[in-house]
Amino acid sequence: MNVKIVLLPGDGIGPEVVTEAVKVLNAICDMYGHKFEYTERPIGGVAIDIAGTALPDETLQACQSADAVLLGAVGGPKWSDPSAAVRPEQGLLGIREGLGLYANLRPVRVYDELADSSSLKTETISGVDLLVVRELTGGIYFGKRQEGSETAYDTMIYSNAEVQRIAHVAFKAAMKRRKKVASIDKANVLASSRLWRRVVEGVAVDYPEVTLEHMLVDSAAMKLIRYPAEFDVIVTANMFGDILTDEASMLSGSLGMLPSASLGDGKAGMYEPVHGSAPDIAGKALANPIGAIMSAAMLLRTSLGLDQEAKTVEWAVEDVLSRGYRTADIAKPEDRHVGTSEMGNLVVKAMQRRKDAK
Ligand code: IPM
Ligand code: MG
Repeated sequence: MNVKIVLLPGDGIGPEVVTEAVKVLNAICDMYGHKFEYTERPIGGVAIDIAGTALPDETLQACQSADAVLLGAVGGPKWSDPSAAVRPEQGLLGIREGLGLYANLRPVRVYDELADSSSLKTETISGVDLLVVRELTGGIYFGKRQEGSETAYDTMIYSNAEVQRIAHVAFKAAMKRRKKVASIDKANVLASSRLWRRVVEGVAVDYPEVTLEHMLVDSAAMKLIRYPAEFDVIVTANMFGDILTDEASMLSGSLGMLPSASLGDGKAGMYEPVHGSAPDIAGKALANPIGAIMSAAMLLRTSLGLDQEAKTVEWAVEDVLSRGYRTADIAKPEDRHVGTSEMGNLVVKAMQRRKDAK
């Protein structure tokens, strides 16, 4: 299989974790006889420094002609003034819009081995395995806005078509999982949420086996930390999804563990760890590359259809964790502490062991 992958390492720990994910992808190529061709492009703060914009045209163009994009992280104190005209986040928002990546999939599962690194009680998070499907190119992020000195506004706007397509993504995902969808909105206050609820109800008719529940976002935020194991698929609007996925990430103990996929209508997609650029630990070999490595696994499965290869990566990550290896963010004194690239090497070795065992 001949595949074009664009790498967007970005800022902070982005380059370090992308390096480990590429190590894993290269090992997959060696083991299964694929050929991946990589092109690296700047995005975020590094792109601002080089080109004066967070998303240079060549970066977007390269992504448009790729089979998949692997992103590290964007942002950092150097570019953090929220009133600056050019900001790293524009790179991310621009690429989501430019590639039409309207569906953001953020799976959260708790590894038994790490259950006690969460700040929540082990019995609360045991068995958590949920998937947040966040709408990514609409809502208040992309609605009309105006910024005056006396007043400012943002608009939360959704069309039937936008809600329909994200709802289908959620119901299809639920069909392959535990067949439950929680649609989260603020329908007691917001008109866009009432439209959202009505459209989701309509889509649900196509999936009679799936149980649909509507939840108000405030109550959902509470239930997510009180009864997290009850959730299967969550579908929600752009900003609610932004907030709830940071909350949900804490169930797993560390933001460093979690992958994500952003998808449009085709197979091409963008994959990135949920964590940010963590400038405070950048360059110190402290970053946890598992979020990036698991994002590479999602890339293999979703954009390339390489399910067996994805499983090999996921199995290897679990194997390494079960043998007690931990980066600093998830380590306790009795664990075997490892750095970023050592963790990547361990995952590659475990993959090869699994392949040999078969
Ligand atoms: C995320 C991030 C982005 C978002 C920021 C960096 C624009 O928080 O991917 O969740 O709000 O979508
Ligand atoms: Mg966020």
